[in-house]
Amino acid sequence: MDQTMRERTGGRPGVPAAASHGEPTGAVAVAQGVHWIGALDPDLRTFDVILRTANGTTYNAYAVRGRDGVAVIDTVKEDFTEAFLARLEQVARYDEITALVLTHLEPDHTGAVPELLRRAPQAHIYVSHRGLMVLRGLLKDDLEHRAYTAVDTGDTVSLGDCTLAFLCTPYVHWPDTQCVHVPERRLLFTCDLLGCHFCDGRLFNDRVGDFRFSFEYYFEHIMRPFKRHVAGALDLIEPLEIDLIAPGHGPILRAHPRQYIAQYRRLVDPRLRAEVGRDEKTLLIFYVSAYGATARMAQAIHDGASENPHVRVSLYDLQGGEVAPFVNLIEATDGLVFGTPTINGDAVRTIWDLLSGLVDIETRGKLGAAFGSYGWTGEAVRMVEERLRGLRMQVPEAGLRIKLHPTDAELEACRDFGRRLSGHLTGHLSGHLSGSAAGPVAPKEIDMAALG
Ligand SMILES: Cc1cc2nc3c(=O)[nH]c(=O)nc-3n(C[C@H](O)[C@H](O)[C@H](O)COP(=O)(O)O)c2cc1C
Ligand SMILES: [Fe+2]
Ligand SMILES: [Fe+2]
Repeated sequence: MDQTMRERTGGRPGVPAAASHGEPTGAVAVAQGVHWIGALDPDLRTFDVILRTANGTTYNAYAVRGRDGVAVIDTVKEDFTEAFLARLEQVARYDEITALVLTHLEPDHTGAVPELLRRAPQAHIYVSHRGLMVLRGLLKDDLEHRAYTAVDTGDTVSLGDCTLAFLCTPYVHWPDTQCVHVPERRLLFTCDLLGCHFCDGRLFNDRVGDFRFSFEYYFEHIMRPFKRHVAGALDLIEPLEIDLIAPGHGPILRAHPRQYIAQYRRLVDPRLRAEVGRDEKTLLIFYVSAYGATARMAQAIHDGASENPHVRVSLYDLQGGEVAPFVNLIEATDGLVFGTPTINGDAVRTIWDLLSGLVDIETRGKLGAAFGSYGWTGEAVRMVEERLRGLRMQVPEAGLRIKLHPTDAELEACRDFGRRLSGHLTGHLSGHLSGSAAGPVAPKEIDMAALG
């Protein structure tokens, strides 16, 4: 607890008493002139509908005191406004607040903004350019009565003896996210980046329980779909002088903060990079087959695609039903081919399971294709193709359907299909690239009569 803290802490009403999660009774000093003024939510079990947490979360907000003013960095979820304001009041008067920095406008960080602005109307709001649109939605007409500035990488705000240096880091959860570096205090506010849903009132990473699982789980579900953007954020952060990372959720990283940045770097790197050459592309073929017809097609497509020396092709039978391990491979690959027979008017469930697992990764722009054997209606291939387009993949070849078991001529058509897919990957074939904007391409049915 620093001097300011000692002077201002005084058992004010509204400050939660020490709770079972070791909730701090007041603001907590994290660096010279910097306090944690957030809130603990130990009872939360589901976040943003999809994310589970085994022991709640924290909404971290901070107050930075400089010679010429106080900056508040983020707020908390609305239900926790009272605790947040009580902690803030321990370290600053409302009329001292010169800046309100919003690193991300999701409600878990902005719930207390309207009330804070009522009490500190002079606070100048700093958001990213993309954040401004969301801020308008949040404050509506009230925004016109506020002072605000949209900031970008390179913009700074001085608090007298320390500086808030903004870093535009979009999509490290929402498009509006930004980080804030305080070089004089060697600390970095990262919002959702490098955070996790882990509730422990001891707050600091060298004091709390083992949160490794939460840290990786949070990355997997929140950051992973935006890996490219996370890599861009790391590019900005890595050169900075940092002794402490203050995220928007979970433990404050003051012991070995660089290790966490390094861990993020490992998590965003494509995993096959060491094994696959720079000029080599990768193509994965997944299939399910009840009677072997789709399996024979898959093998022929594999053989045709493999004729291209610049494409590394892999073939996987999904009969075992386990799909989770393949999500990592798919994330790192250039092209994907899915083979399924039509069973009861649909693709086989294992294929859907794998496709639904792709929501956590970036699939936009990868090459996609579908094939399969069928008996009479043969809808499966078209349905899979639609899903691939929904995932923003490029589908340059119309899906290949073959009635029952393939003949030698049909197997040759499969090999040719494989050759063409490899050709698209290496740029030897331009073909018709149908991204999400393009209309559906009818599956190509190999008709024996047409083959002559
Ligand atoms: C239980 C069952 C349901 C099927 N339903 C359909 C169907 O709805 N539409 C269709 O075109 N073919 C249907 N078929 C035919 C299969 O698609 C066809 O036998 C195909 O060649 C199987 O390919 P596979 O050897 O790769 O499993 C069905 C087959 C089975 C065994
Ligand atoms: Fe978020
Ligand atoms: Fe958040």
